[in-house]
Amino acid sequence: MKIIQITDIHIGTEGEASSKKIDTRQTFSSIIAEIKNRDFDYLILTGDLCLDSTFDSGIYLWIQKKLNSLSRPYFVIPGNHDDPRLLAEVFGYHNKIKNGALYWEHCIQGEQFIFIDSSPYVVSAEQHQWLNQIIAQSQQNRFFIFMHHPPCHVGSLHMDAHYPLRERDAFMNLLLKHNKTFYIFTGHYHCEKIIIQKNVHVFVTPSTYYQIDERYEDARVKNNLIGYREIEISDHVIRTTVNYIESVSPC
Ligand SMILES: [Fe+2]
Repeated sequence: MKIIQITDIHIGTEGEASSKKIDTRQTFSSIIAEIKNRDFDYLILTGDLCLDSTFDSGIYLWIQKKLNSLSRPYFVIPGNHDDPRLLAEVFGYHNKIKNGALYWEHCIQGEQFIFIDSSPYVVSAEQHQWLNQIIAQSQQNRFFIFMHHPPCHVGSLHMDAHYPLRERDAFMNLLLKHNKTFYIFTGHYHCEKIIIQKNVHVFVTPSTYYQIDERYEDARVKNNLIGYREIEISDHVIRTTVNYIESVSPC
């Protein structure tokens, strides 16, 4: 099974310019054009669909149209720049909203996929309880978790200091206590990282907007590259790689 993960696309309302003077509709479209002819089975969009805090169904509808053009199944989860209810409404996830949070599990080709809502910068106690129960009751030995925020210290001075997931240790401890393997695919940090702690493997995927230089505490743009992740899952092997392309010129 081959999956493409795209994250932190930060699309504005029509004609809205980003503070970085980057046309994010164009950068996202470049990635869509790049993957269109790639061999993959599913696409997963891991949050921060909206540019800032303007949540508009027009943004989600525009993204939906782009995703539909790929003619492949896809899943979308919210980030901190999203409204989970509005996102659920547009993408048809009404039955997956529980107490304002959009989370669910899905068995794909015999593998257990978990979609977590960390959009309020925290994973709710309800989700902790739900996840713990799923893991405890499952016959699976490995789980694939998709969530916007990495549940650990990543090693980005700016993001770790200013925008980390709250109560991330509680989430990690929940996974560490189980004798199972977890592969967590995230975004939010606008960089590429892999963090491995015992049975928990966290992959941070770069944005299609811009990358943040992890070496500085102030927010500095690292380069002019935008990226996405490929994940290949087979019986005993998981391969993953990040591909980059050059961002289009500023608008
Ligand atoms: Fe984010």
